[in-house]
Amino acid sequence: MNTKNFFIETWGCQMNEEDSEKLSGMLKSIGYTKTTQKDTADIIIFNTCCVRENAELKVYGNLGMLRKLKKNNPELIIAVCGCMMQQKNMAKDIIKRFPFVDIIFGTHNAYKFPEYLNRVRYGEKSIIEIQNKEDGIVEGIPIDRESNIKGFVTIMYGCNNFCTYCIVPYVRGRERSRLPENIENEIKSMVEKGYKEITLLGQNVNSYGKNLNPKVSFAQLLRRINNIDGIERIRFMTPHPKDFTDDVIEAIKQCDKICEHIHLPVQSGSTRILKKMNRNYSKEQYLKVVDKIKRSIPNVAITTDIIVGFPGETELDFEETLDLAKKVQYDSAFTFIYSKRKGTPADEMGEQISDDIKHERFNRLVDVINNSSAKNNKLYLGKSEEVLVEGLSKNDNTKLMGRTRTGKLVNFLGNSDNIGKLTNVHINSTNSFSLSGEEV
Ligand code: 5AD
Ligand code: SF4
Repeated sequence: MNTKNFFIETWGCQMNEEDSEKLSGMLKSIGYTKTTQKDTADIIIFNTCCVRENAELKVYGNLGMLRKLKKNNPELIIAVCGCMMQQKNMAKDIIKRFPFVDIIFGTHNAYKFPEYLNRVRYGEKSIIEIQNKEDGIVEGIPIDRESNIKGFVTIMYGCNNFCTYCIVPYVRGRERSRLPENIENEIKSMVEKGYKEITLLGQNVNSYGKNLNPKVSFAQLLRRINNIDGIERIRFMTPHPKDFTDDVIEAIKQCDKICEHIHLPVQSGSTRILKKMNRNYSKEQYLKVVDKIKRSIPNVAITTDIIVGFPGETELDFEETLDLAKKVQYDSAFTFIYSKRKGTPADEMGEQISDDIKHERFNRLVDVINNSSAKNNKLYLGKSEEVLVEGLSKNDNTKLMGRTRTGKLVNFLGNSDNIGKLTNVHINSTNSFSLSGEEV
């Protein structure tokens, strides 16, 4: 049988990756096949991100390249979705610039994609369906995960924090949590399929459950998930430092499956800038939380997100960030150059920082981060570490790759029968980004 196939490209965060896995799940359930060949696809979907300007520019560039494909194959269906589409006038602008796009939809109505597809097949042109209000949570969408070893499970959608640089609350709506039993059932069905690791996803996971009746705290949810038989590792992202309460630290300490890795975005080390960012904690309060985590969870790895060049950031403010990074000794960090986003308060702030200064600060920060990650990784030398084997190593397919509980990437010599399983690896060399070794 000659089935139709689809190609999907995803930009942005894990939330978008999970949305793409759902789009893929829906398409497979109605008979389509996934392809990695854009040129021969019957449907091309771009799932977009708008957190930084760069992500948007990539979408424009890629859309431009589809013009020719559509000309050669007028039957080709092109769909654009995701966060970028939720911005005011964006969908109309896209259709104006790229009139060959067939379907545009947003983050709140992705579950209707099969319906939009049908409408195109019945001759409708340029469908734009953006919903500005979130309608609760749609459960039960089939999901086609990228991996059959580890997977994302969304526990809550949206964000109420309104950090002044961030577009997410405007495109993903207000916080709403899934019912704990729906989350548990999803994880149990993953266990049946052989999944070993799950990452709980949400823009601010430690405010999970606040809108549920009865209320369920994030710590309670962690404990319930830890009781599910068969799952080996539990991770979560992203927690907000202001809400990192003692009950969560206690739950991590007591639940054997929760991994010793906390991703705790700091964004800046200057209390003055943190205030302008509306982060609701000071440098000292952040360091206190880190200290508590380190004291309670032995050998924990701490990673973060940092933005350089926020409006008004002085050399002294930036030095506070360097100082904080040195104090925390991060295992790694996602470092970002501040990007102006229309509609956010920071876009309207004066004292925007020049590109030269932003780049110079970025490089200095990366040096500090690489230094501490190299130092922390060296501590693994000569040790035997539990690794979840994910597959062949990317750069050398005579080796395998996997991750430690602390999230460190390990390339190692070992038995490929162990892909999908936990094994022990003796670490014999390290650098800033990974560990290497041999299965024992
Ligand atoms: N400019 C630069 N980085 C940003 N982030 C969010 N918004 C912006 C922006 N306007 C970063 C934050 C966040 C991560 C996902 O993206 O560090 O934690
Ligand atoms: Fe954006 Fe702040 Fe919400 Fe994270 S917590 S999604 S940075 S507004």
